[in-house]
Amino acid sequence: MKVELTLRKRWSGKFGAALMFEGDKKPLGMEQGSFNRLVLAGAGFDGKYQECTVGVDADKRRVIVAGLGKRGDFELERVRMAGAGVIKKALELRAGELGVFLPGGNEIKGRLVDFVRAVVEGMLLSCYRFTKYRQPKPDEAKPPETVYLVFSTEEESRLVLPIVDETQRRVDAVYFVRNLVNEPAANKAPMKMAELAKGLALPGRIDVRVMDRSTLQEMGMNGILAVGQGSHNPPCLVELVYTPKVKSKGTVVFVGKGVCFDSGGLSLKNAQQMENMKDDMAGAATVLGVFKYLQSVDLPYKVIGLTPLVENMIGGGAQKIGDVIRHYNGKTVEVANTDAEGRLILADALAYGAKFKPVLMINIATLTGACVVALGNECSGVMGRDKESVARLIDLGRVEGEYFWELPLFERYRAHMKSEVADMKNIGKPMNAGTIIGGLFLSEFVPEGVNWIHIDIAGTAFTTESRGYYPAGATGVPLRTMIALLHSRWG
Ligand code: BES
Ligand code: ZN
Ligand code: ZN
Repeated sequence: MKVELTLRKRWSGKFGAALMFEGDKKPLGMEQGSFNRLVLAGAGFDGKYQECTVGVDADKRRVIVAGLGKRGDFELERVRMAGAGVIKKALELRAGELGVFLPGGNEIKGRLVDFVRAVVEGMLLSCYRFTKYRQPKPDEAKPPETVYLVFSTEEESRLVLPIVDETQRRVDAVYFVRNLVNEPAANKAPMKMAELAKGLALPGRIDVRVMDRSTLQEMGMNGILAVGQGSHNPPCLVELVYTPKVKSKGTVVFVGKGVCFDSGGLSLKNAQQMENMKDDMAGAATVLGVFKYLQSVDLPYKVIGLTPLVENMIGGGAQKIGDVIRHYNGKTVEVANTDAEGRLILADALAYGAKFKPVLMINIATLTGACVVALGNECSGVMGRDKESVARLIDLGRVEGEYFWELPLFERYRAHMKSEVADMKNIGKPMNAGTIIGGLFLSEFVPEGVNWIHIDIAGTAFTTESRGYYPAGATGVPLRTMIALLHSRWG
């Protein structure tokens, strides 16, 4: 879907759309006269949040109107959701083009730029389809090819132009992540992902290095090696480095879990648990998405991306229960469960990432089923050492419509990982604070003093049913919050 800007007097399409606050006399950006007709056609529609109607305006055009709810309850996420509602109706109407009326003058009091960003985001994000491997379904409607943002004045459209471009680039990065996560595991083995990551390199700005199996052996990245040893497809670690043009204000490190397929290993998952385990590299995909976005933006930070990439498989060479791994930082771990593999590969990558002395190190991982139980599909788990940084991330997420809930790194549970043969084991007690244990395990590999945040996206990275602006499949969460974070003043 293309987004173009135009003026009211120049726009002459057949299908229009507008958003409306509950209780307002007319939809935003529309003439009072048009609205009277809409009321008639709209069958009682009064702008309630998540309601949508179709009416006919004074020029006899069909106009989709999406509700925003009460002005007092306004938040940008509602605009995004209304944008998604507009697209849903446009699909029903089979509109090939759509003109979206933007609020003018004083209608939203100086928030025009945010408003446009959110409505464009909601529309574009909900237009995503993963059609690479299938024919169109018989009755499947195509999303509109072009959406015109219709402004009443030249000045407003000029003001908004850069933000439309910025939004497009953020959405492109989300599409990139979704495509990667939706890709079948057969076509995204670790080295294949690494090749793709190399494609993100930009001379002088982004450098990409791939550490292959033999390099990992030399470096002592034995967690990545151990998890990867059961697969015919060798593991690797990708390092991406973004160098700012201006003097750097510090280094931010992103580490993403890249389990290209998680069978569980010898602690084998059952069929149902395994069904969507191609998504177990969503953390790594998000980190690559950050760099896709960084290709087109100047930021005053050095940004490092680390994606340990493996397949967690069974086979003659697979790691066994009770094996002991010596990780990159020298700590030893007894593998009590091969299905708790994410933490084993992240352990090496985090210990390595800490060497860059980051002002902030964030890891993103589909780490625990327990997080899905605790927080469900619409909220990621977050843990960290610095309360203020965690709170900031949660606040940024709320604006983006990506939700996070903090869980404690509760020290008393650390003892659950005690081992007789190694410094620790890779699981705690069954059915007992699984998500927190995951965080505590990772913290063992991040030296004290490093501002480190762990995000568990096991529930949020993938949705089996479409909802809001997420079509079924990969969501791209939490990429937009990571981008927002890079734009917020850090350190
Ligand atoms: N990749 C899974 C976690 C997961 C579960 C992601 C459901 C998305 C949806 C992870 O590697 C795993 O299997 N974790 C185990 C840990 C346990 C053995 C301590 C789990 O959650 O069962
Ligand atoms: Zn697992
Ligand atoms: Zn996993």
